[in-house]
Amino acid sequence: MKASVVACANLALIKYWGNMFEELNIPLNDSISVSLESLQSTTTLEFADDHRDTLELNGEEVRGEGMERFLFVLRHFRALSGVTTPVHVASENNFPTAAGIASSASGFGALAHALYAASGVEADLAKISALARLGSGSAARTPIAGYAHWHRGADHESSYATQVRPANDMRILVTITSTEEKPISSSRAMKRSKASSPFFVQRGNTANDRVPFLLKALKEWEFPTIGEITQREANNLHAVINTTDMGLYYWNRTTIEIVHRIKQLQDEGVKCYYTMDAGPQVKVLVMPSDVGAVKSVLAEITEIEEIIDSGVGFGSQLSDHHLF
Ligand code: DP6
Repeated sequence: MKASVVACANLALIKYWGNMFEELNIPLNDSISVSLESLQSTTTLEFADDHRDTLELNGEEVRGEGMERFLFVLRHFRALSGVTTPVHVASENNFPTAAGIASSASGFGALAHALYAASGVEADLAKISALARLGSGSAARTPIAGYAHWHRGADHESSYATQVRPANDMRILVTITSTEEKPISSSRAMKRSKASSPFFVQRGNTANDRVPFLLKALKEWEFPTIGEITQREANNLHAVINTTDMGLYYWNRTTIEIVHRIKQLQDEGVKCYYTMDAGPQVKVLVMPSDVGAVKSVLAEITEIEEIIDSGVGFGSQLSDHHLF
């Protein structure tokens, strides 16, 4: 009645930002992501009668919003499976938590997978993906290896991710510009955007319109098209975020500096493309032949705390490495 799962974070190329139906995280638009091999969560889950439901993250018991989301996933799992035994869960990330690099996506993806595995209740990837979505929308994409397409769907069963293509040799340079916890979680910020940004609905429509183009470019591997759609998407997302409330900003000075340098490199003909999520880190998509050129430019920006050079990752999978 114990299972451990290792899962990668994922980076959205077409972003999820807001729901059609709030409670179940049924999104406004489809989204597409790439799994990040170097950013991993490991989660161990055990069913045991003498436990109360507990969740530990990096050695500390989780309370507040994180615990509520965990209990929400658990309630749904219990209703779907009939398994009501209490659970103890421990999870560890090998990267900064809640600083805008999708720690909740890998964590909830691993949790959903571990719930099914430890209980022995059969589930395919679609079921794991749908359950993960209840904890954090972007977690719907976690079970998928390589490149994932989260179909927005219309209800719990139809809103889940499938694979677009398996992993290839693209690199993702994740530049860490700050490890401070972000001021407001994505899930809360997107609700505020829905209520206050005049561009919210338009962005969702634009994202949906871009999906078939990105799917085609991924399948045929047209890297510049993939990069351009990704960069435009990031710009659209941040136009909505920046026009939320009186102005919401996840960037810091280094974020902007990196964006300028990447644009300069593009002007010089280097095929590299930036994207950012709800946090100050910049992720750069680049093919192996240009990694050196991009890294040497980034090395001049002394404020960058760390650059994680990641390959394209795997889908969530069972592991023998138990945390307890
Ligand atoms: C900007 O609600 O999935 O990363 O609040 O951290 O749980 P948490 O994330 P979630 O929002 C993710 C938003 C995004 C875009 C994306 O990953 O598609």
